[in-house]
Amino acid sequence: MNYFIHTYGCQMNVHDSEKIAGILEEMGYVVCDSVEKADIAVFNTCCIRETAEKKIYGHLGAIKKLKRQNPRLITVVCGCMSQQEGVAEKIKTSYPFVDVVLGTGNLNLLKQAVLDAQKKKKFCNVDFLRYREEDFLQARTSYPNAWVNINYGCNNFCTYCIVPYVRGRERSRPLTDVMAEVEKLLADGYKEITLLGQNVNSYGHDLDGNVSFATLLNEIGKLSGKFRLRFMTSHPKDLSEDVIDAIAAYPNVCNNIHLPVQSGSTEILRKMNRRYTRDDYFALIDRIRAKLPDVGITTDIMVGFPEETEQDFEDTLDLVRHVKFSSAFCFVYSRRKGTPAYSMEQIPYEVKKERITRLIACQNEVTKQISQTMLKKVYEVLVEGENFRYDQTMCGRTESGRLVNFKCDPSLIGQFVNVKIDRATSATLWGSIVTEDK
Ligand code: SAH
Ligand code: SF4
Ligand code: F3S
Repeated sequence: MNYFIHTYGCQMNVHDSEKIAGILEEMGYVVCDSVEKADIAVFNTCCIRETAEKKIYGHLGAIKKLKRQNPRLITVVCGCMSQQEGVAEKIKTSYPFVDVVLGTGNLNLLKQAVLDAQKKKKFCNVDFLRYREEDFLQARTSYPNAWVNINYGCNNFCTYCIVPYVRGRERSRPLTDVMAEVEKLLADGYKEITLLGQNVNSYGHDLDGNVSFATLLNEIGKLSGKFRLRFMTSHPKDLSEDVIDAIAAYPNVCNNIHLPVQSGSTEILRKMNRRYTRDDYFALIDRIRAKLPDVGITTDIMVGFPEETEQDFEDTLDLVRHVKFSSAFCFVYSRRKGTPAYSMEQIPYEVKKERITRLIACQNEVTKQISQTMLKKVYEVLVEGENFRYDQTMCGRTESGRLVNFKCDPSLIGQFVNVKIDRATSATLWGSIVTEDK
């Protein structure tokens, strides 16, 4: 019996899919490469923007036909979208061929749900339970990297964002659980650990004892052996000095910070409820670079937030030019029902479209400049896997997080190599393995 999982969302969602895969494999299912061959199809959904939702509903519609061809096919819809208010009911009425609906907080019910579905009994539960991931296996899919959840949910309520509503309030995993998982992963040969949380910097505030995100970085940093530690996402309002110090102190903790700015306008940041100003952000960047001169800073930026004026947008472009992010994920604001920004005055689509084009062009220019400075230099790269966009090409990242393409034998996946940068086409770096040190 085969399973196929369609993952639509962020790294958190990707990692949840590994937990889902672990549960299904324990039940005897084997992974397959297309939904047509599957006996169980899982849709692990995302609802951060409308585009994600539209895609999912399109795919769900197509399942109806597959179900006719294979009446044994079990369909599961889970993840953030099913946790949204009213969605479970909508699926029940408009997509009656869906067998199982689960939310984000009750993956531990998946086994029971599938057993019910095998007996043609529908299962729908989006209650928020607090499952322990130690209670089930995970089928990891991203070697040499391994994702590790450190906190779930979010308390920040940025006015545009659906995440706090679909992932619940913030809660930290006990330090001992996180450490046990990390140590086991390193013993199993994983070379990169990526700690996951919507706001990693507030890790520990709800735990007993004096535990913070810096405590965690120090504990992991002290572990022996060669590996890389990454983490995401950092909220600018909570990134403390001791976290910067921990990155500087331990070679295993990567010089790489994902620090979403969202906007370069203090007025828009206020309307977004981000709780920092443009100047606060600049000051934070200066403090980081003073202690970590080689740091790679990446970001998320949104255009077309309600009431964003041309001047607000220009402020964003100006910030992008000055901060020099190594890369930026640029998004068009999408109106989410149930969030405060839903009822603010919206910007016409044409304006948003024009702004996103200008923003991407602006960041591309910055990335190109940074890439030029990397030419002919040698960087240590962890060989991560094949880059399927190109023929016989492998890829990996520098410590600062830049992706490099190069040719090498696939047997080197999971090894650290030195790569000299030969060519840079704006965002993409090309290099070759060298024996010389950096
Ligand atoms: N917790 C992380 C990111 C969560 S979502 C943080 O606080 O930064 C990832 C990114 O999606 C956000 O950084 C934001 O840029 C974008 N995003 C969130 N809600 C959005 C919306 N309604 N429309 C467009 N982009 C959105
Ligand atoms: Fe959403 Fe803001 Fe929380 Fe990030 S910090 S998940 S953007 S509410
Ligand atoms: Fe991630 Fe999408 Fe949920 S971005 S947290 S899967 S809404």
